[in-house]
Amino acid sequence: MSKKVLKVRKSQTIEGTIKVPGDKSISHRAAMLLGMAPSGLISTVTGFLPSEDCLQTMRAMQSLGASIQRPDSTTLVIEGAGEKFTEPKKVIDCGNSGTSMRLILGILAGQNQMKSKLTGDESLCRRPMNRVVNPLTLMGAKISAEGKNGCAPLEVTGTKLKGIVYNSTVASAQIKSCLLLAGIFAEGKTVVTEPEKSRDHTERIFNYLELPFTADRLKYTISGGHLPKPKDLRVPGDISSAAFWLVAAAARPGSFLRIENVGLNPTRTGILNFLLRMGAKIRENVDEDEYEPSGYIEVQGGGLRGTVIEGADIPNVIDELPILAVAGALASEGVTVIRDAKELRVKETDRIAAMAENLRAIGVEVEDYEDGLAIRAANKIVGARVKSFGDHRIAMAMAIAGLFCEGEMIIEDVDCIQTSYPGFAEDLEKLTGQGR
Ligand code: S3P
Repeated sequence: MSKKVLKVRKSQTIEGTIKVPGDKSISHRAAMLLGMAPSGLISTVTGFLPSEDCLQTMRAMQSLGASIQRPDSTTLVIEGAGEKFTEPKKVIDCGNSGTSMRLILGILAGQNQMKSKLTGDESLCRRPMNRVVNPLTLMGAKISAEGKNGCAPLEVTGTKLKGIVYNSTVASAQIKSCLLLAGIFAEGKTVVTEPEKSRDHTERIFNYLELPFTADRLKYTISGGHLPKPKDLRVPGDISSAAFWLVAAAARPGSFLRIENVGLNPTRTGILNFLLRMGAKIRENVDEDEYEPSGYIEVQGGGLRGTVIEGADIPNVIDELPILAVAGALASEGVTVIRDAKELRVKETDRIAAMAENLRAIGVEVEDYEDGLAIRAANKIVGARVKSFGDHRIAMAMAIAGLFCEGEMIIEDVDCIQTSYPGFAEDLEKLTGQGR
């Protein structure tokens, strides 16, 4: 079967106002937490991201007994079943979604005597699960990995978990969130620390849904035995999706872009800080802040210069590093250096290797390190046929590079874009006038 390609050509301006689809991280958490609420009360999620990844989470919660209706593609009407989850009849398929697998594992591990199994696509079955299986095992979980090196498929026999203190050595919101979710079903307190701040969506939704949770800088504590309160929730647009257009507009003089109703959570807005540092003209404004801040971002195109992205800033831009690597190539001067980002090696694909290969293929000078990349500003990039590596963010980053290339950029196998940004091709058309 032939896989879909996306063809992109140079665009003279990036112009317009758009809203990007709902935040992926928040959509996952909304479906999980409200599915875990006690039965009897209904809550509504609006702005849900109707992407493959988030739909896997929705189906998983349905398979545990939560009632979830979807009256339209971005609205979920949920009656939780947290006090009476039932054994899933089928293997839970998480598709391409690491967030679904790692977070749901935390929920399943604490369902006493319930047997369940989690699997995913080829990429997900190669991603490390020991990082969550090991601490869950310390809590008393019974999980056996059928894949090599502790990878999925994962078989779970639910047990009565005990709270532990776990000092994570990786700044990962998925590890933190998995253990805090398990902590809801554990006896006593579960304490998690992380070495640097990762995205705090779990903390915010825990507080909003009135769970007995505290955060003290990098230390998070949940007391077990309480379910989240059912409440309505609005999901803002995903700044990680907005990032592609922000880079395109910032790098193209004469452009003007406005993105409305986008999440402006400070643990996710690193992309704005780095673009500012690279010389971009950006304005942001928070319009609403109930449990997650959201508002608009405006960019006036000017041009960019190289910068250094490293250390404690990395978790805040972890998903934006492929498009920031493209920003480095589109800059008019300097070298953009990305270090301390070895987590990129274990994302949907090895994003360091993938970006190094693709940027070289379009004539950009790149050095790759075990933990990052150095990208020299290229005065010319040449269109080429490049691979997505089955990774949505690599596909979209290369599409943006295509807006600046000589000739034509052909990105292979772009169905993966559906995992986070349904409507990407339509927004490309809207902002650049290019046909699909
Ligand atoms: C996510 C956390 C990040 C991010 C992923 C979504 C989340 O992963 O890369 O796209 O929703 O918790 P890590 O926590 O593994 O860094």
